[in-house]
Amino acid sequence: LDNGLALSPPMGWLAWQRFRCNTDCVNDPKHCISERLFMEMADLLVSEGYAKAGYNLISLDDCWLDKVRDSDGRLKADPIRFPSGIPALSDYIHSRGLRFGIYEDYGNYTCAGYPGILNNMKLDAQTFADWKVDYVKLDGCYSFPSQMDKGYPEFGYYLNRTGRSMIYSCSWPFYQLVTKMEPDYATISKTCNLWRNFEDIQDSWQSVTSIIDYYGDNQDTLIPLAGPGHWNDPDMLIIGNFGLSYEQSRAQMCMWAIMASPLLMSVDLRTIRPEFKAILLNTEIIAVNQDPLGVQGRRVYKKQGIEIWTKPVLPKSGQLYSWAIVVLNRRVDGTPSQVTVPLRELGLDSGDGYHVRELNEHKDVGIISPDQAIQVDVNPSGVVMLKCTIIRVPPFIP
Ligand code: GLA
Repeated sequence: LDNGLALSPPMGWLAWQRFRCNTDCVNDPKHCISERLFMEMADLLVSEGYAKAGYNLISLDDCWLDKVRDSDGRLKADPIRFPSGIPALSDYIHSRGLRFGIYEDYGNYTCAGYPGILNNMKLDAQTFADWKVDYVKLDGCYSFPSQMDKGYPEFGYYLNRTGRSMIYSCSWPFYQLVTKMEPDYATISKTCNLWRNFEDIQDSWQSVTSIIDYYGDNQDTLIPLAGPGHWNDPDMLIIGNFGLSYEQSRAQMCMWAIMASPLLMSVDLRTIRPEFKAILLNTEIIAVNQDPLGVQGRRVYKKQGIEIWTKPVLPKSGQLYSWAIVVLNRRVDGTPSQVTVPLRELGLDSGDGYHVRELNEHKDVGIISPDQAIQVDVNPSGVVMLKCTIIRVPPFIP
Protein backbone atom coordinates (compact mmCIF):
# COMPACT_ATOMS: atom_id res chain seq x y z
CA LEU A 1 0.00 0.00 0.00
CA ASP A 2 1.48 3.28 -1.10
CA ASN A 3 0.54 5.37 1.94
CA GLY A 4 4.08 6.35 2.89
CA LEU A 5 4.06 3.89 5.81
CA ALA A 6 5.90 0.64 6.58
CA LEU A 7 8.75 1.46 4.22
CA SER A 8 10.65 -1.22 6.11
CA PRO A 9 8.96 -4.22 7.76
CA PRO A 10 6.95 -3.09 10.82
CA MET A 11 8.48 -3.83 14.22
CA GLY A 12 6.82 -3.98 17.60
CA TRP A 13 4.93 -6.03 20.12
CA LEU A 14 1.67 -7.87 19.59
CA ALA A 15 -0.36 -9.53 22.35
CA TRP A 16 -1.84 -12.62 20.71
CA GLN A 17 0.67 -15.46 20.62
CA ARG A 18 1.73 -15.13 24.24
CA PHE A 19 -1.38 -13.76 25.96
CA ARG A 20 -4.20 -15.08 23.75
CA CYS A 21 -7.73 -14.44 24.99
CA ASN A 22 -7.06 -14.47 28.69
CA THR A 23 -9.85 -12.31 30.09
CA ASP A 24 -9.64 -13.53 33.67
CA CYS A 25 -8.29 -10.46 35.41
CA VAL A 26 -9.66 -11.63 38.74
CA ASN A 27 -7.50 -14.73 38.98
CA ASP A 28 -4.71 -13.72 36.61
CA PRO A 29 -4.38 -9.94 36.71
CA LYS A 30 -0.80 -9.94 35.41
CA HIS A 31 -1.50 -11.85 32.22
CA CYS A 32 -5.06 -11.00 31.26
CA ILE A 33 -5.84 -8.77 28.27
CA SER A 34 -6.14 -5.43 30.05
CA GLU A 35 -4.85 -1.89 29.83
CA ARG A 36 -2.35 -2.77 32.54
CA LEU A 37 -0.69 -5.38 30.30
CA PHE A 38 -0.25 -2.96 27.40
CA MET A 39 0.99 -0.14 29.63
CA GLU A 40 3.57 -2.42 31.24
CA MET A 41 4.75 -3.67 27.85
CA ALA A 42 4.98 -0.10 26.56
CA ASP A 43 7.12 0.88 29.54
CA LEU A 44 9.44 -2.07 29.01
CA LEU A 45 9.69 -1.55 25.28
CA VAL A 46 11.25 1.80 26.09
CA SER A 47 13.19 1.09 29.30
CA GLU A 48 14.77 -2.16 28.04
CA GLY A 49 15.99 -0.73 24.75
CA TYR A 50 13.56 -2.43 22.36
CA ALA A 51 12.15 0.85 21.09
CA LYS A 52 15.64 2.14 20.40
CA ALA A 53 16.33 -1.00 18.36
CA GLY A 54 13.24 -0.28 16.23
CA TYR A 55 10.37 -2.06 17.98
CA ASN A 56 8.12 0.98 18.10
CA LEU A 57 4.60 -0.46 18.08
CA ILE A 58 2.38 -1.80 20.86
CA SER A 59 -0.67 -3.53 19.49
CA LEU A 60 -3.83 -4.97 20.95
CA ASP A 61 -5.02 -8.22 19.49
CA ASP A 62 -8.34 -10.04 19.98
CA CYS A 63 -10.40 -9.81 23.19
CA TRP A 64 -10.00 -6.13 23.98
CA LEU A 65 -13.59 -5.36 23.00
CA ASP A 66 -16.76 -5.34 25.01
CA LYS A 67 -19.30 -7.92 23.85
CA VAL A 68 -21.59 -5.11 22.62
CA ARG A 69 -21.21 -1.71 20.95
CA ASP A 70 -22.16 1.45 22.87
CA SER A 71 -25.53 3.17 22.54
CA ASP A 72 -24.28 5.15 19.50
CA GLY A 73 -23.18 1.95 17.79
CA ARG A 74 -19.49 2.66 18.37
CA LEU A 75 -16.95 0.05 19.33
CA LYS A 76 -15.91 0.12 22.95
CA ALA A 77 -13.38 -1.71 25.06
CA ASP A 78 -14.29 -4.07 27.86
CA PRO A 79 -15.01 -1.59 30.70
CA ILE A 80 -13.64 -3.79 33.47
CA ARG A 81 -10.34 -4.67 31.82
CA PHE A 82 -9.83 -1.25 30.16
CA PRO A 83 -11.31 1.08 32.81
CA SER A 84 -9.55 4.18 31.44
CA GLY A 85 -10.76 3.52 27.89
CA ILE A 86 -8.88 3.19 24.63
CA PRO A 87 -8.20 6.92 24.06
CA ALA A 88 -6.34 7.04 27.38
CA LEU A 89 -4.35 3.91 26.53
CA SER A 90 -3.51 5.34 23.13
CA ASP A 91 -2.30 8.56 24.77
CA TYR A 92 -0.22 6.59 27.24
CA ILE A 93 1.48 4.62 24.49
CA HIS A 94 2.08 7.75 22.44
CA SER A 95 3.51 9.50 25.49
CA ARG A 96 6.17 6.79 25.53
CA GLY A 97 7.05 7.67 21.93
CA LEU A 98 5.45 4.48 20.60
CA ARG A 99 2.78 3.70 18.03
CA PHE A 100 -0.58 2.30 19.03
CA GLY A 101 -2.08 -0.68 17.19
CA ILE A 102 -5.56 -2.17 17.34
CA TYR A 103 -7.21 -5.41 16.22
CA GLU A 104 -10.54 -5.90 14.52
CA ASP A 105 -12.18 -8.31 12.11
CA TYR A 106 -13.76 -7.79 8.74
CA GLY A 107 -16.63 -10.18 9.56
CA ASN A 108 -19.57 -10.21 11.95
CA TYR A 109 -17.35 -11.21 14.85
CA THR A 110 -13.68 -11.37 15.71
CA CYS A 111 -12.20 -14.85 15.86
CA ALA A 112 -12.87 -14.93 19.60
CA GLY A 113 -16.47 -13.76 19.16
CA TYR A 114 -16.38 -10.01 19.81
CA PRO A 115 -18.15 -7.50 17.51
CA GLY A 116 -16.65 -7.25 14.01
CA ILE A 117 -16.77 -4.29 11.64
CA LEU A 118 -19.13 -5.65 8.98
CA ASN A 119 -21.86 -3.03 8.29
CA ASN A 120 -20.02 -0.44 10.40
CA MET A 121 -16.91 0.16 8.37
CA LYS A 122 -17.12 3.90 8.01
CA LEU A 123 -17.94 4.47 11.67
CA ASP A 124 -15.23 2.09 12.90
CA ALA A 125 -12.54 3.60 10.69
CA GLN A 126 -13.47 7.00 12.11
CA THR A 127 -13.43 5.63 15.66
CA PHE A 128 -9.89 4.33 15.11
CA ALA A 129 -8.79 7.69 13.75
CA ASP A 130 -10.44 9.47 16.71
CA TRP A 131 -8.53 7.17 19.02
CA LYS A 132 -5.27 8.05 17.26
CA VAL A 133 -4.65 4.49 16.15
CA ASP A 134 -1.47 4.01 14.07
CA TYR A 135 -1.81 0.37 13.02
CA VAL A 136 -4.87 -1.75 12.28
CA LYS A 137 -4.79 -5.55 12.12
CA LEU A 138 -7.95 -6.65 10.35
CA ASP A 139 -8.68 -10.34 10.78
CA GLY A 140 -11.13 -12.37 8.70
CA CYS A 141 -13.12 -14.78 10.88
CA TYR A 142 -16.92 -14.95 10.49
CA SER A 143 -16.91 -13.58 6.96
CA PHE A 144 -16.94 -14.90 3.42
CA PRO A 145 -13.48 -15.03 1.81
CA SER A 146 -15.16 -14.44 -1.56
CA GLN A 147 -16.32 -11.03 -0.32
CA MET A 148 -12.89 -9.97 0.91
CA ASP A 149 -11.78 -8.63 -2.48
CA LYS A 150 -14.43 -6.00 -1.98
CA GLY A 151 -14.47 -5.70 1.81
CA TYR A 152 -10.78 -5.22 2.62
CA PRO A 153 -10.34 -2.43 0.03
CA GLU A 154 -13.54 -0.82 1.26
CA PHE A 155 -12.28 -0.62 4.83
CA GLY A 156 -8.93 0.61 3.51
CA TYR A 157 -10.80 3.35 1.69
CA TYR A 158 -12.52 4.43 4.89
CA LEU A 159 -9.27 4.34 6.84
CA ASN A 160 -7.70 6.54 4.19
CA ARG A 161 -10.66 8.93 4.20
CA THR A 162 -10.16 9.68 7.89
CA GLY A 163 -6.94 11.48 6.96
CA ARG A 164 -5.02 9.70 9.73
CA SER A 165 -1.98 7.63 8.71
CA MET A 166 -2.57 4.05 9.76
CA ILE A 167 -0.62 0.94 8.80
CA TYR A 168 -3.10 -1.60 7.42
CA SER A 169 -2.43 -5.28 8.24
CA CYS A 170 -4.68 -7.76 6.45
CA SER A 171 -5.48 -11.46 6.87
CA TRP A 172 -7.27 -11.50 3.49
CA PRO A 173 -5.07 -13.87 1.44
CA PHE A 174 -4.81 -16.41 4.26
CA TYR A 175 -8.57 -16.88 4.53
CA GLN A 176 -8.88 -17.12 0.76
CA LEU A 177 -6.12 -19.71 0.51
CA VAL A 178 -7.85 -21.80 3.17
CA THR A 179 -10.92 -22.00 0.92
CA LYS A 180 -8.73 -22.77 -2.12
CA MET A 181 -9.27 -19.35 -3.68
CA GLU A 182 -6.41 -17.74 -5.57
CA PRO A 183 -5.65 -14.43 -3.85
CA ASP A 184 -5.53 -11.36 -6.07
CA TYR A 185 -2.11 -10.35 -4.77
CA ALA A 186 -1.79 -7.36 -7.09
CA THR A 187 -4.78 -5.77 -5.37
CA ILE A 188 -3.81 -7.01 -1.92
CA SER A 189 -0.38 -5.39 -2.09
CA LYS A 190 -1.96 -2.12 -3.26
CA THR A 191 -4.49 -2.22 -0.43
CA CYS A 192 -2.51 -3.44 2.58
CA ASN A 193 0.88 -2.68 4.12
CA LEU A 194 1.25 -6.29 5.23
CA TRP A 195 -0.77 -9.46 4.96
CA ARG A 196 -0.85 -12.91 6.47
CA ASN A 197 -0.41 -15.76 3.97
CA PHE A 198 -0.28 -18.78 6.20
CA GLU A 199 -1.49 -20.32 9.44
CA ASP A 200 -1.12 -18.83 12.90
CA ILE A 201 2.22 -19.40 14.53
CA GLN A 202 2.17 -21.63 17.63
CA ASP A 203 4.79 -21.89 20.34
CA SER A 204 6.86 -24.65 18.73
CA TRP A 205 9.78 -25.29 16.40
CA GLN A 206 7.49 -27.46 14.29
CA SER A 207 5.28 -24.43 13.70
CA VAL A 208 8.28 -22.21 12.87
CA THR A 209 9.67 -24.71 10.34
CA SER A 210 6.26 -25.23 8.71
CA ILE A 211 6.14 -21.47 8.15
CA ILE A 212 9.68 -21.40 6.76
CA ASP A 213 8.71 -24.21 4.36
CA TYR A 214 5.63 -22.32 3.22
CA TYR A 215 7.62 -19.19 2.36
CA GLY A 216 10.36 -21.23 0.70
CA ASP A 217 7.98 -23.42 -1.30
CA ASN A 218 5.94 -20.42 -2.49
CA GLN A 219 8.80 -17.97 -2.91
CA ASP A 220 8.34 -17.34 -6.62
CA THR A 221 4.86 -15.99 -5.91
CA LEU A 222 5.68 -14.24 -2.65
CA ILE A 223 9.08 -12.61 -3.14
CA PRO A 224 7.93 -10.21 -5.91
CA LEU A 225 5.09 -8.96 -3.68
CA ALA A 226 7.36 -7.71 -0.92
CA GLY A 227 8.94 -4.28 -0.86
CA PRO A 228 8.80 -0.91 0.88
CA GLY A 229 5.17 -0.35 1.97
CA HIS A 230 3.98 -3.92 1.30
CA TRP A 231 5.13 -7.09 3.08
CA ASN A 232 4.30 -10.75 3.45
CA ASP A 233 3.65 -11.48 7.12
CA PRO A 234 4.65 -14.94 8.41
CA ASP A 235 3.28 -14.02 11.87
CA MET A 236 4.80 -13.17 15.23
CA LEU A 237 8.20 -13.84 16.76
CA ILE A 238 7.83 -16.37 19.56
CA ILE A 239 11.38 -15.92 20.87
CA GLY A 240 11.55 -15.88 24.68
CA ASN A 241 8.44 -18.00 25.26
CA PHE A 242 8.31 -21.71 26.09
CA GLY A 243 8.63 -23.64 22.85
CA LEU A 244 11.94 -22.69 21.23
CA SER A 245 15.44 -23.58 22.35
CA TYR A 246 18.21 -20.99 22.22
CA GLU A 247 19.40 -22.20 18.81
CA GLN A 248 15.87 -22.34 17.44
CA SER A 249 15.26 -18.80 18.67
CA ARG A 250 18.31 -17.57 16.81
CA ALA A 251 17.00 -19.45 13.80
CA GLN A 252 13.62 -17.73 13.92
CA MET A 253 15.25 -14.31 14.28
CA CYS A 254 17.62 -14.84 11.36
CA MET A 255 14.96 -16.38 9.13
CA TRP A 256 12.45 -13.60 9.81
CA ALA A 257 15.21 -11.08 9.14
CA ILE A 258 16.20 -12.61 5.83
CA MET A 259 12.56 -13.01 4.74
CA ALA A 260 12.05 -9.26 5.28
CA SER A 261 9.23 -10.19 7.64
CA PRO A 262 7.56 -7.89 10.12
CA LEU A 263 9.27 -8.31 13.50
CA LEU A 264 6.35 -8.45 15.90
CA MET A 265 7.40 -9.91 19.23
CA SER A 266 4.82 -11.69 21.33
CA VAL A 267 6.51 -12.40 24.61
CA ASP A 268 6.30 -11.37 28.25
CA LEU A 269 8.91 -8.63 28.41
CA ARG A 270 8.72 -8.68 32.22
CA THR A 271 10.19 -12.16 32.49
CA ILE A 272 12.11 -12.79 29.25
CA ARG A 273 15.52 -14.32 29.88
CA PRO A 274 18.52 -12.17 28.98
CA GLU A 275 19.82 -14.52 26.27
CA PHE A 276 16.52 -14.36 24.38
CA LYS A 277 16.33 -10.62 24.83
CA ALA A 278 19.80 -10.36 23.30
CA ILE A 279 18.60 -12.26 20.23
CA LEU A 280 15.68 -9.87 19.75
CA LEU A 281 18.01 -6.90 20.22
CA ASN A 282 20.69 -8.02 17.76
CA THR A 283 21.03 -4.79 15.83
CA GLU A 284 23.11 -6.28 13.01
CA ILE A 285 20.40 -8.82 12.26
CA ILE A 286 17.66 -6.21 12.61
CA ALA A 287 19.54 -4.06 10.07
CA VAL A 288 19.30 -6.86 7.50
CA ASN A 289 15.56 -7.07 8.11
CA GLN A 290 15.13 -3.30 7.88
CA ASP A 291 17.39 -2.89 4.86
CA PRO A 292 16.07 -0.06 2.65
CA LEU A 293 16.06 -2.18 -0.52
CA GLY A 294 13.29 -4.21 1.09
CA VAL A 295 13.94 -7.40 -0.86
CA GLN A 296 12.55 -10.62 0.58
CA GLY A 297 15.17 -13.36 0.81
CA ARG A 298 15.22 -16.50 -1.30
CA ARG A 299 15.87 -20.14 -0.46
CA VAL A 300 18.66 -21.04 -2.86
CA TYR A 301 19.64 -24.43 -1.47
CA LYS A 302 17.75 -27.21 0.32
CA LYS A 303 19.18 -30.65 0.72
CA GLN A 304 19.41 -33.21 3.50
CA GLY A 305 18.24 -30.82 6.19
CA ILE A 306 20.50 -27.94 5.20
CA GLU A 307 19.07 -24.76 3.70
CA ILE A 308 20.78 -21.63 2.42
CA TRP A 309 18.83 -18.40 2.04
CA THR A 310 20.14 -15.17 0.52
CA LYS A 311 18.97 -11.57 0.44
CA PRO A 312 20.53 -8.63 -1.38
CA VAL A 313 21.15 -5.64 0.88
CA LEU A 314 22.90 -2.29 0.79
CA PRO A 315 25.53 -1.07 0.17
CA LYS A 316 25.72 -1.79 -3.51
CA SER A 317 28.33 -0.89 -6.04
CA GLY A 318 26.94 -0.41 -9.53
CA GLN A 319 24.86 -3.49 -10.21
CA LEU A 320 26.60 -5.50 -7.51
CA TYR A 321 24.99 -5.89 -4.11
CA SER A 322 26.02 -6.79 -0.62
CA TRP A 323 24.27 -9.90 0.67
CA ALA A 324 22.93 -11.49 3.79
CA ILE A 325 23.12 -15.28 3.94
CA VAL A 326 21.46 -17.63 6.40
CA VAL A 327 22.56 -21.24 6.66
CA LEU A 328 19.81 -23.16 8.45
CA ASN A 329 20.45 -26.63 9.87
CA ARG A 330 17.33 -28.70 10.35
CA ARG A 331 19.14 -31.91 11.12
CA VAL A 332 18.62 -33.40 14.54
CA ASP A 333 21.71 -35.60 14.69
CA GLY A 334 23.16 -33.81 17.68
CA THR A 335 26.38 -32.51 16.18
CA PRO A 336 27.01 -29.26 14.34
CA SER A 337 27.09 -29.70 10.56
CA GLN A 338 29.95 -28.30 8.56
CA VAL A 339 28.56 -26.51 5.54
CA THR A 340 30.46 -25.00 2.63
CA VAL A 341 29.06 -21.70 1.40
CA PRO A 342 30.14 -21.23 -2.21
CA LEU A 343 29.81 -17.51 -2.82
CA ARG A 344 29.92 -17.44 -6.61
CA GLU A 345 27.40 -20.25 -6.93
CA LEU A 346 25.03 -18.31 -4.70
CA GLY A 347 25.30 -15.28 -6.97
CA LEU A 348 27.93 -13.34 -5.04
CA ASP A 349 30.41 -12.68 -7.81
CA SER A 350 32.00 -9.31 -7.17
CA GLY A 351 35.60 -9.75 -8.28
CA ASP A 352 36.87 -7.55 -5.47
CA GLY A 353 35.41 -9.89 -2.88
CA TYR A 354 33.38 -9.31 0.24
CA HIS A 355 34.00 -8.35 3.80
CA VAL A 356 32.27 -11.25 5.62
CA ARG A 357 30.92 -11.12 9.16
CA GLU A 358 28.88 -13.55 11.26
CA LEU A 359 25.95 -11.70 12.80
CA ASN A 360 24.97 -13.91 15.74
CA GLU A 361 28.46 -13.96 17.18
CA HIS A 362 29.40 -10.51 15.85
CA LYS A 363 32.63 -11.91 14.44
CA ASP A 364 34.52 -10.96 11.32
CA VAL A 365 35.28 -13.90 9.07
CA GLY A 366 37.59 -11.97 6.78
CA ILE A 367 37.82 -10.76 3.23
CA ILE A 368 36.59 -13.48 0.93
CA SER A 369 36.76 -13.62 -2.85
CA PRO A 370 33.87 -15.23 -4.76
CA ASP A 371 35.92 -18.29 -5.58
CA GLN A 372 36.87 -19.02 -2.02
CA ALA A 373 34.48 -21.22 -0.07
CA ILE A 374 33.42 -20.26 3.43
CA GLN A 375 33.17 -23.17 5.85
CA VAL A 376 30.69 -22.76 8.68
CA ASP A 377 29.64 -24.99 11.56
CA VAL A 378 25.90 -24.85 12.05
CA ASN A 379 24.35 -26.21 15.22
CA PRO A 380 21.37 -28.59 15.01
CA SER A 381 18.14 -26.59 14.57
CA GLY A 382 20.33 -23.53 14.45
CA VAL A 383 21.72 -21.00 12.04
CA VAL A 384 24.77 -19.13 10.90
CA MET A 385 24.05 -15.70 9.45
CA LEU A 386 26.64 -13.99 7.30
CA LYS A 387 26.68 -10.45 6.05
CA CYS A 388 28.83 -10.14 2.95
CA THR A 389 29.57 -6.48 2.35
CA ILE A 390 30.81 -5.68 -1.09
CA ILE A 391 34.28 -4.20 -1.25
CA ARG A 392 34.28 -1.05 -3.25
CA VAL A 393 37.41 -0.35 -5.17
CA PRO A 394 38.43 3.29 -4.78
CA PRO A 395 38.28 5.17 -8.08
CA PHE A 396 41.57 5.11 -10.01
CA ILE A 397 43.17 8.52 -9.91
CA PRO A 398 46.02 8.87 -12.47
C1 GLA B 1 -6.63 -15.26 14.13
C2 GLA B 1 -5.35 -14.53 13.78
C3 GLA B 1 -4.43 -14.49 14.98
C4 GLA B 1 -5.14 -13.84 16.16
C5 GLA B 1 -6.44 -14.57 16.45
C6 GLA B 1 -7.27 -13.84 17.48
O1 GLA B 1 -6.41 -16.63 14.36
O2 GLA B 1 -4.71 -15.10 12.69
O3 GLA B 1 -3.25 -13.79 14.68
O4 GLA B 1 -5.37 -12.49 15.86
O5 GLA B 1 -7.24 -14.69 15.26
O6 GLA B 1 -8.48 -14.46 17.77
